[in-house]
Amino acid sequence: MLTEVNEAGGAMLRSWAMTGSDSSEQATRSSIDFWNVRHRNPEEEDHDNFLNHPMVQAYSSMRAFAGTLIGHLDALIAELSRRTNPGDCIVSVGCGLAGKERSLAKAMPDRRVLGLDIADEILTIAKLDLEGSGIDNLQLVHGDFNHLELEENSCKVVLGMGAIHHVEALEGFWESCRKALTPGGMVFGQEYIGPNRFQWTEAQIECGNRALAEIVPKEHRVDHERIDRVPIETMISLDPSEAVRSAEILTTCKQAGYEIDAYTGAGGALLQPVLMRQIHSFDPQNWQHNHVLATLFAEEDRLMSMGTLGDDFAMFIVTPPS
Ligand SMILES: C[S@@+](CC[C@H](N)C(=O)[O-])C[C@H]1O[C@@H](n2cnc3c(N)ncnc32)[C@H](O)[C@@H]1O
Repeated sequence: MLTEVNEAGGAMLRSWAMTGSDSSEQATRSSIDFWNVRHRNPEEEDHDNFLNHPMVQAYSSMRAFAGTLIGHLDALIAELSRRTNPGDCIVSVGCGLAGKERSLAKAMPDRRVLGLDIADEILTIAKLDLEGSGIDNLQLVHGDFNHLELEENSCKVVLGMGAIHHVEALEGFWESCRKALTPGGMVFGQEYIGPNRFQWTEAQIECGNRALAEIVPKEHRVDHERIDRVPIETMISLDPSEAVRSAEILTTCKQAGYEIDAYTGAGGALLQPVLMRQIHSFDPQNWQHNHVLATLFAEEDRLMSMGTLGDDFAMFIVTPPS
């Protein structure tokens, strides 16, 4: 059992204890091992993650932000600046190397930002990088968002940037956030909300296979010709936290009594199964490649307009019950 007490930026992490069963402790350790390695290899992320391609970023921004090209982080900063006040504390769970948290802290020097992550080695690197950066309103702490104990009334915003979909103990998470938030506080999410553990729906598989056959030339089908569900055991063996209860994020939030204050969808239900681990074959400077992507965007949009597919990615702001 591990216990650590931290105090940072006025938002206190009262305690962190790895207190689960043996199997949940084992799962947590596997996630730590996975992320300690993964964050050190950003090229793997570029290789696999379809959201890193500039065309996909443009598409998802235009979907989410009424046809504008504002980046997701810039949109977040604008919204956080509008909805918080000088002196407020923003807690970002699952911060990883904390690159985004550094941008937030720099853009809002009169807010305090606290980043929290369980990957200890990555946090050490992030803390070293932070030293001497001149950023004095960002603090990074080691913590587990499945056993989150933030000080009551200590922060205005709890933020998840691609992190809440790694939370297994969602009910406890919403309760911890409710207690930690000051009056008028909120949880912000920029998240994957699609099928748990990437177990694609029948519609995603059928539409994705048609798109692979009819839209995506062979030169881009470098990882898969067809869409299959990766067995759950394989998903768990890679990273037990990956999309562990992603499809339940918003339902558990509503069950916990939160109100959805703002929501915008960013699509992705066709694009992710088709493009994951193949996106590196699309050169952003090759307009034939970009044309294929644009055709996929149009197909996803068509399927979403018909109600065949929904959003697998979304941004939301939710407020706790009083
Ligand atoms: C997809 S990454 C997102 C990282 C960062 N927010 C970003 O946008 O680059 C998910 C992060 O959640 C962290 N994580 C996974 N399980 C966690 C846990 N139980 N408690 C805290 N952080 C955890 C991982 O270490 C990883 O840094």
